[in-house]
Amino acid sequence: KIPWTEEIKQLKQNEFLNQASLLLREGGLVAFPTETVYGLGADATNEQAVSTIFTAKGRPSDNPLIVHLGEVEQLSDWVAEIPDVAHQLIERFWPGPLTLVLPHNGRVASQVTAGLSTVAVRIPEHPVALALLQLAQVPVAAPSANRSGRPSPTEAAHVWKDLSGRIDILLDGGATGVGVESTVIDVTEKTPVLLRPGGVTIEEIRDVIGDVRVDQGLFSKMVAPRSPGMKYQHYAPRGEMWLVSGSEQKMRARITQLAREAMREKRKVGILTTEEFQDQYQADLVIACGQRKEPASVAKDLYHTLRRFDDEDIELILAETFPEKGLYHSVMNRLQKAAGGKIIRV
Ligand code: TXA
Ligand code: MG
Repeated sequence: KIPWTEEIKQLKQNEFLNQASLLLREGGLVAFPTETVYGLGADATNEQAVSTIFTAKGRPSDNPLIVHLGEVEQLSDWVAEIPDVAHQLIERFWPGPLTLVLPHNGRVASQVTAGLSTVAVRIPEHPVALALLQLAQVPVAAPSANRSGRPSPTEAAHVWKDLSGRIDILLDGGATGVGVESTVIDVTEKTPVLLRPGGVTIEEIRDVIGDVRVDQGLFSKMVAPRSPGMKYQHYAPRGEMWLVSGSEQKMRARITQLAREAMREKRKVGILTTEEFQDQYQADLVIACGQRKEPASVAKDLYHTLRRFDDEDIELILAETFPEKGLYHSVMNRLQKAAGGKIIRV
């Protein structure tokens, strides 16, 4: 079922991919493109190699990693059990931006699972990633290839900026397509639990397996999220960021007013909007993050947009918000984290 058979075959002849796969087998750190964001990979069975991921990223060690495979057949080598719902999801969404949390069989390095009884696994939908994984023939633990707390990298240049000098090789596959990370779903319970919204929408998942619960920790400050990574403030730009929500008209009026006030106080102001309204705002930096009528275009541009505010040393970022359905559910989850939960409702 894996596409690009011819392309992958050719990529497997590529000198750099072969070098990268050898580096992986020898315990090195390889940054590579996936369809979601760039990953920072190491051999998931090599305890020493996996620990260098945490050092390079400055990542807290209680945050487990996703294991990436190049072929579905390899899954049973690393998990203790594959429930029926997992089979259904794999059939429909792999390769693709869906990560399954399954009981592990103790064969991946303990730092990969951060001591949990489960392991997160996915097959990425990117020819370079697939060729690399198939050449390496080891499971590859890979978080997003950014310094911990920074927006995830959607271009090789973002990886370079965060991690040059800390990794062995960076494979440049151009800009990634989806732009937000994979959806993480725990299928160890009778009713599967969505732990992180991402590239595959909850509506699409429900179409395939019916009932899905959403981890309450995703929304509440009172309940700890079950996916350890969701508790950290992530994706944060350096400037102070506020989301503004309400009807499109009110939201835009308030952003316009707040921007004017802040600029009067000589603060450097940035506005995150979409193509439809870009020309209507005035600020030091107005960025159209895709088109509002195309959620996929907003997701694709999101992290690049957050990084651009940093590049221009923007002190105050005012962001439009989106109705939390489909891919916008994931976009809003990332925006809320970037803003540290700061939201103005109008
Ligand atoms: O799209 C993606 O998933 C990208 C690309 C590189 O594949 N990877 C990625 O990895 O986003 P990372 O490490 O940034 O996020 C992994 C998420 C974290 O929220 C982590 O807590 C969760 O998956 N996770 C990993 N293993 C888990 C487990 N056994 N149980 C629950 N959550 C887990
Ligand atoms: Mg990450």
